[in-house]
Parts: sequence; C-alpha cells; structure tokens
Amino acid sequence: MADVPRSDHMSIEEFRRRGHEVVDWIANYQREIESLPVLSRAKPGQIRTALPPEPPAEGESFDAMLRDVDEIILPGLTHWQSPNFFGYFPSNTSGPSILGELLSAGLAVQGMLWATSPACTELETHVLDWLVGMLGLPGKFLSSGKGGGVIQDTASSASLCALLAARERSTAGGSNESGCDGHLTAYASTQAHSSIEKAVKIAGLGRRNLRAIEVDSAYAMRPDALAEAIARDRRDGKTPCFVSATIGTTSSNAMDPLRAIGEICREAGVWFHVDGAMSGTAALCPEFRWIQDGLELADSYCFNPHKWMFTNFDCDCFWVADRAALIGALGILPEYLRNQATASGAVIDYRDWHIPLGRRFRALKLWFVIRHYGVEGLRAQVRRHVALAQTFADWVREDSRFELAAPAPLNLVCFRLRAGDEANQKLLDCLNASGELFLTHTRLDGLFTLRMSIGQARTERRHIERAWARIREEAARL
Ligand SMILES: Cc1ncc(COP(=O)(O)O)c(C=O)c1O
Repeated sequence: MADVPRSDHMSIEEFRRRGHEVVDWIANYQREIESLPVLSRAKPGQIRTALPPEPPAEGESFDAMLRDVDEIILPGLTHWQSPNFFGYFPSNTSGPSILGELLSAGLAVQGMLWATSPACTELETHVLDWLVGMLGLPGKFLSSGKGGGVIQDTASSASLCALLAARERSTAGGSNESGCDGHLTAYASTQAHSSIEKAVKIAGLGRRNLRAIEVDSAYAMRPDALAEAIARDRRDGKTPCFVSATIGTTSSNAMDPLRAIGEICREAGVWFHVDGAMSGTAALCPEFRWIQDGLELADSYCFNPHKWMFTNFDCDCFWVADRAALIGALGILPEYLRNQATASGAVIDYRDWHIPLGRRFRALKLWFVIRHYGVEGLRAQVRRHVALAQTFADWVREDSRFELAAPAPLNLVCFRLRAGDEANQKLLDCLNASGELFLTHTRLDGLFTLRMSIGQARTERRHIERAWARIREEAARL
C-alpha cells in the first residue's frame, strides 16, 4: 500500500480562522462576564459526568470543542475576571497580557539557555531591570551589578529558590553535597503565606525547624520576637539560615517592618527574603513605597504581577542581590547543554535561576502590559483600587453592626459583623450563593472575618456600592 501521509495538523488557514473565533469568544466573554454568577454553581463530579469516558479515536471539529467550552466548561468556572470578584487576592489579566501570552504560545520557544532564544532571556532581564526603577527597588537588584531578576511561575517557587540559596550559603554548599542534617532553622511570622512552610519542607529543613514568629496588634511580625527566636536557636546549637518577611500578608495585608527585621538578619548573618506577592505592585506609586522601607537590607524579593499588575497567571518577579548565591545553589551543567555563549560567561542562562530546566517566554506579556499602560497608567489603576477600598472601609466604620478586623492600608478590607462567627459565616454563604459577588474569609485572632479584596481590572465604584448594599441587605435579614 502506498504511504499516504495523514494530514491531521490544523492547516494554517484554519488556524487563522479559528484564532479569530477564539479571540472573539474571549472578547464576548469579557463583555458578558458581569451577568454570570461569580462563583461556579457546579456540583462535585458534574463536569466529569458530562465528558466522554474515552478520548476520541479520530479528530473532532473545532466547532464541537468550542461548543463544549460553552456548555460544559463555562458553568464549571468561577469568574476571577468578574468585576464582582472580591475573593482571595486578585489574579487579574488584561488585553495586552492575553495577547502577549498568545504570542508566547505561538512562538513556543524554550528559554532555558540564552543560546536557545537570546531574545527570551534578554527581554526578561531588561523588563526586570525596568521594574527595579518602576517600583523604586534597591539598585542592588539590577542585573548591571551583582544581582538580577528572573520571572518565576509563582511566589511559592521564588521563596523556595530563595531558601535553597540561603541553605547553600549557610552551609557553604554542603547541603547540596550531603543533604540537610536538621540543624538549619527558618523564620516567618504566624501570618506568613503557607508557601513558606511548603518551601521549608521541600528544601529538606524539616517543618519543625520553621519558627512561627509572633505578630503585633496589626498582624505584623514582632522584630523582638524574631531576635529572641534566633538567639534561642543559636544557644541550642542550631544554624539560623533564612527569614521571610511579608509585605501584604494573605489574611489581612499586614506589613512586616522590613528595616528592623533586616537589621536583625544582617547582624545574625541570616538570608533575608521579602515576599511582596500581593502588595508589591503598590510600590509603583511613590506614596505607597513606605511598605518597602528597609528592602535594601534584603537578599531577595518577589512580587506577583499575576495578582495586581494586569498580567495573567503565571508571572512572579524575583530578584536577588547576589546572583552567584542563587546560581551556586541551582546551577548544573550537563554535557548536552554546553555551548559557546555559556562558556564565554557573557550571558545569563535562566535555567540556573529556578527549578525547572525549560521555560516559557513569559516576559512578552509583562512587556506588553508595561508598554500598553505605561507607568502612569498602571499607577492610576493602583490608586483607583486603593481609593475604592478606602471608601469601602469608611462605609464599614459608619455601620455600627460591623467592625474593621484589621488596618486596611491598601486594597484589602477585613471586616465582620459584631454578631459573632456563625452570623459571619451565614452572611458569607448567602452572599456567595447569590452569584452576584464573591468574597472569601480568614480568621484573625480566632474570629471569622470577611475579606473584601479589590483589584480586578474592571471593578468600578458601582460594583463596590452594589456589593456593600447586598452585604447590608443580607446582614439585615440574618
Ligand atoms: C503573601 C503571599 N505570598 C505568596 C502567595 C503565593 O502566591 P503564588 O500562587 O504565586 O505562589 C500568596 C498568594 O496569595 C500570597 O498572598
């Protein structure tokens, strides 16, 4: 039989046509999103039941795929881009970001080495240097000195890489050689994100060697408690190795006092990492840069444009003051990756700056976002969100049934009914079941607390007004 090759690839012309359809679909979704229930109403197993048990033996039409997106997938989504999404922290996006992501998928280059796509590396280095200036970060994070920045998938990975660099620095490379022997200790406040505990587990320090440092009445780390914990561990023969402070904690947006913490770290010779995953974006605006006072004492810093800077997931920016420490911890060079550019020492090979080898061209979407909005455009959005949150906090203060549960320095308002946990849980459940808005909760000092997180690209004052009206209506009904 003659060898007639099957032509299963999507033709370039069909790709062009379907691509336009998909962009139209996304534009329509964005236009309609406000009318969709914010929280998915899917029941467990509902999506899988609607899917065929076996994959198709022969290819299907693109029409059938898009139809299933409408009928099966869409009802199973919580609409994170809805202007009425006030849960967790935002995970927002924007037109330029989506288009940058599409381009990245279309190019599909691997940027593991400079040599495997020089533009992928150099654009990333350049944009991260831009951001040092845009955010008013310490100059030591610039790639022109001993430091430099890299895009990681998430803040969780960035903190893990910081911890690995810290571990190797404090054992002079010994942990990579022989493993951890349980004497290294790490420190973060009781309010630090769970990713720090995860990093401590993955890095082999052992969870029992992570110290949860007490916080003050504003939920910020107490430097005196940190200093005491480090001193106690030293007395006990441990080796303090890593401190992680947070600007903008997940529960309540608390700001750890970086300067005091940094001075303790410097004195103790401990790696100082700062997690600005959420609130780091605020530093675009000079008036909010007080949150990073003392950051010049840090060894590493990360923040997530994929939260509040209109760049779709995943995109975390991570800087180190001494790139040699990071590369020393993560670098490895098998024969098949050797090349002249690497050997010359004149280029950055980002594979040595994070866990995976392969890497996507993430800098494109970030570059598009920065160029589309410009620094002033991004600042205007941040200021708008902060102003909306402050207005919301004023409304809470004025209603005697409610109380603010924590300071609201930026765009997160933690509040609750004075009537107790049960009433607050009911209030949250009713609001979310309505589909009109979506909030999440935390516990502060053991008390059930609602979080109003304002950071969606298209959230306007009318959405906040409507949310507050609904909250008050439901509270009256309880
Ligand atoms: C302060 C803080 N750090 C880290 C993270 C984890 O972020 P990622 O999903 O990028 O790992 C979050 C997530 O909300 C966070 O609020």
